[in-house]
Amino acid sequence: MNQIISSESSTALSADTVLVRKYLDRAVRPAVLDEETQKTYKANITQLMRQKNARLVAHYYTDAVLQDLAEESGGFVGDSLEMARFGRDCDAEILIVAGVKFMGESAKILSPEKTVLMPTLEATCSLDIACPIDKFSAFCDQHSERTVVVYANTSAAVKARADWVVTSSIALDVVEHLMEQGKKVLWAPDKHLGSYIQKTTGADMLLWDAACIVHEEFKVRGLADMRKLYPNAAILAHPESPSAVLEMADVVGSTTQIINAAKQSEKSEIIVATDQGIFHKLQQVAPEKKFIIAPTAGVEASCRSCAQCPWMGMNSLESLYGSLQESSNEVCVDSALATQAMIPLQRMLDFAVNNQLKVRGKA
Ligand code: 13P
Ligand code: SF4
Repeated sequence: MNQIISSESSTALSADTVLVRKYLDRAVRPAVLDEETQKTYKANITQLMRQKNARLVAHYYTDAVLQDLAEESGGFVGDSLEMARFGRDCDAEILIVAGVKFMGESAKILSPEKTVLMPTLEATCSLDIACPIDKFSAFCDQHSERTVVVYANTSAAVKARADWVVTSSIALDVVEHLMEQGKKVLWAPDKHLGSYIQKTTGADMLLWDAACIVHEEFKVRGLADMRKLYPNAAILAHPESPSAVLEMADVVGSTTQIINAAKQSEKSEIIVATDQGIFHKLQQVAPEKKFIIAPTAGVEASCRSCAQCPWMGMNSLESLYGSLQESSNEVCVDSALATQAMIPLQRMLDFAVNNQLKVRGKA
């Protein structure tokens, strides 16, 4: 069974859409800094991090300058699973998470003894917003015979209600493992990732109805046209993209899996269906290749995201410096909730250690 719930009528805007728009109104892009100012900020931040024994952990979707700073200062750039692991294992007293809220919360849950700061606490995720704990908990209660598997892009409260937390790099393997045990799955919140897992594994899954506003804009028609322009190109896609886009992809995987596939690909042209922030790392690991962004629904003013997460884009050198200097924007998770959320998170991390992660498809 593969059922999608939808609580609203299709004519009116759903409550989730209205809520996501409210958050989007507050997602202001930081000012672009000239090179000299960037240099000064980078030097000041590096010095402060040394003084305070702090480490910067950044996601591939954040600004290139933050990714460089993380690597140059002994921090880390990675996908959401790797960010969580690095944060837990490093010996810093302070972690600064450049990413979105759920990443900061995961870091805090896994490292309760560390102070976790974020450049901004306003950076969230449409998947997290569209899966409020009260509705989600009621949904779980209605289907108590199912194993609850939630994507990492959720609140601490939703994680605390789950049996498993997964990221996109491990979701297929975990659901396959549960299927082999004869388990039925309740999946939330990303319907595209859920339906991709369901189709690939054949697992019995009940899906929550939410989507990433960035990946949902990749359109199969535009992609088919682009393939005509670049007939020899490989297509790499993040599994939050719609199923028609995923069906055209040579490789479907997490951000790190996309980067690895690009590096290993024999193709010299690569079309990428994920946030444009990843191009910084792609160009570093395969400078000889041409990377092309997959087409989105609109351009400029007609485009809600244009393959750029508005919340990831809120992280800046200025806001990072401010939060580090004042120890502001601290991520706090209720300790009882954190203890409960740690169980499914730890289950994922143990599973990752015991299983070789796979990338489906070939480029
Ligand atoms: P990854 O785990 O692949 O980095 O994805 C996180 C995310 O938010 C993608 O939109
Ligand atoms: Fe959430 Fe999409 Fe942004 Fe990732 S890209 S943080 S899934 S809104």
